Formats: sequence, C-alpha cells, structure tokens
Amino acid sequence: MILVTGGAGYIGIHTSLQLLHEGYELVIVDNFTNSSLESINRLKKITKKQFKLYHVDLLDKSALEMIFRENKISAVVHLAGLKSVGESVRFPLEYYSNNIIGTLNLCEIMKKFGIKSLVFSSSATVYGENNKMPVTENAHLSTTNPYGRSKLIIESILGDLYKSDKEWSIAILRYFNPVGAHSSGQFGEAPNGTPNNLMPFVSQVAIGIREELKVFGDNYTTRDGTGVRDYIHIEDLAKGHIKALSNILESSGLEAYNLGTGKGYSVLEVIKTFEEVSGKIIPYTIVDRRDGDIAECYADPSKAYDKLGWKAEKGLFEMCVDAWRWQKNNPNGYKNSNSKEEIIFT
Ligand code: WQD
Repeated sequence: MILVTGGAGYIGIHTSLQLLHEGYELVIVDNFTNSSLESINRLKKITKKQFKLYHVDLLDKSALEMIFRENKISAVVHLAGLKSVGESVRFPLEYYSNNIIGTLNLCEIMKKFGIKSLVFSSSATVYGENNKMPVTENAHLSTTNPYGRSKLIIESILGDLYKSDKEWSIAILRYFNPVGAHSSGQFGEAPNGTPNNLMPFVSQVAIGIREELKVFGDNYTTRDGTGVRDYIHIEDLAKGHIKALSNILESSGLEAYNLGTGKGYSVLEVIKTFEEVSGKIIPYTIVDRRDGDIAECYADPSKAYDKLGWKAEKGLFEMCVDAWRWQKNNPNGYKNSNSKEEIIFT
C-alpha cells in the first residue's frame, strides 16, 4: 500500500488519481485545512476504486502511528504541507511547525515500522535567486521566505537521515510552477480566498470573479520585462511522482529531481495564451514588483529524464485549456457541490 499525505490537495488528488490508475493500493491522509472532501468523493466516483482515507493531521503522531499499525504500507508520497510564500512570511511558526514537525513525525513513524521509501514534495523555491538558467539540481540552494526555508530544512533532514541509514530510498521532487487541471474538468486548483499564484488569478479574471490582474512589475531583464516561470501541467507533475515512486521501490539512495518543462513563459505570454484559449480579455495593470520575486526561473529537467524516464509533455496552451475547463465547470472550486460532505472511510 502507498500512503499519500496531503492526498486530497491540488497535487495530491491528481497524484492519487494516477496512482490508482496504475493499480496501486492507496491510503490517503489529509487534515483538510486546504483541501476538500468533495475531491475525494469525485476520486471515488471517477476511478470506481477502493482506497482508504484518514482525516488526520501529521502533527497528531499517535493518530499517524495508528494508520501505520492498521495498514501494510510499503512507501510514502509526502505532499502534505502549507505552501503559500506570502502566508509563510506572515505566519512563520505555523509553517515551520506544520511542514517540519509534520515531516519529522512521519519519518520517525516510518522508521519505527521499517518503511524507508519516501517521495518528498519540494519546490523550485529552494533555488532562490542568482542561479544561471536553466537551473540544475546542483545549483546553489538559498531561499528568502519561511515556506522555502521549511522545504530546504526538510531536504537537509532527509539528507542526514539517509547518511545515517543508507537503506532509505528518497526522491526529492522540486516542483516548478504547477498549473492546469485534470482533463475531465473534475479536479483542479481551488485556492482559498484570493489566489496568490498567477494562473488561478488569471482564470478568475477570465470568468469574471476578479476585475483585473495586477502584473507585478514589467522592468525585469526578461524578453518582455515581466517575470518568466517554468509552468508545468499538473498531470505531467503527477506522472513525475509515479516515476519517482517506482524508482525508489527498486533501489535505495537519495536524489533530487527538477519537475519542470525546461521552458519559461512570461506573465504577458500566459495572459495572451489564456485569452486565446478562453476567448476572454484579461484586463491587467502593471504595478510594482512583488517582494521576493525573481526575474526568471526555469528548469533543466534532464536528470529526471535520464534517471526516471520522465519528461513533461503538455505545453502552455494545454495548461490553459485544462485550467479554463476546470474554472468554467467549477466557478467556486469544490465548494457548493451537491455531494454529501461526510468523511468516508473505505
Ligand atoms: C508567477 C509569476 C509573479 C500573481 C510560487 C511559489 C513557489 C510555488 C509556485 C509552491 C511571477 C507573477 C503572480 C499575480 C503576477 N509554490 N504574478 N500577478 O511566485 O513563481 O512561485 O508559486 O511550491 O514555491 O514561490 O508563482 O504564480 O505566484 O507567480 O504578476 O497576481 O506571475 O510576479 O512572475 P511563483 P506565482
């Protein structure tokens, strides 16, 4: 059985969907602070597969231990974590506690049960700035915010854990900018409140929930002055987890992998593509740069291809098509859906 922490979240539900399609038996754990039971109900409906769900917080160590006692878990895909850069600056203690202590609890319980295969959700935010592009896994690591620092600290913890016991098999996945939605239009990004990230904000402008987009600066040294990022389709990202999981189940070791397309797009290019896809005008105003933003960040994804046999296949157009379908079908995300909001233990 595979334990997926944060399995009801944006990355989690797309990864759980693919794991179920691949025939894995799943145990999903989520504290539902930033996810919805509706996504789990849809997962059951769409896959018609059985899986187990626990409404548990990783900070509740005894509840976590019970899950390992009740299920024969062979590996863990660890996605649970708070992930907003801006929020982490306002609430650093919550971020360090939730992300780091949660991971420590998980690793301690795994060790206790002799389970030493782990896929960890990290982020390109650990690369900080001043790296040359495209960025490779051995680039200089630094970060300017508590969210990124929590990821960096966890990567170091996992490095020390592996050094102490070479039987561990750990894949650290550094996500670039995950966007888009499952092609069914049933699963997608459902940020609470005002979206921090570009794509959900743009799609909310397109559907009329938001008036206009604020473009954070157009005086960067990029082709059109706006920020350039490596947007990666959520379904490609999920596939990267499948490849990483099969790799860690076969061998031991610790490796970090960039999950990006290797291609950067600017804010204005995203706006233009989204307008093409949606047929809507996306009004925007250029405002000052956002603190902590860097000019450009895009991946050299060749290591994931060479070692995991993974590469992203979908381009920006398809990311916008799928994001727009999700937005149209679910104007309020998973809220106000007509399914019962009950906890399902199957
Ligand atoms: C993308 C570009 C903004 C919003 C963050 C986290 C990273 C990861 C993904 C978790 C930038 C511009 C954005 C807006 C804008 N999260 N922008 N107006 O900052 O690259 O990465 O999210 O792992 O860790 O750091 O993504 O989508 O916020 O910004 O102009 O309203 O869009 O300046 O150039 P970012 P983003």
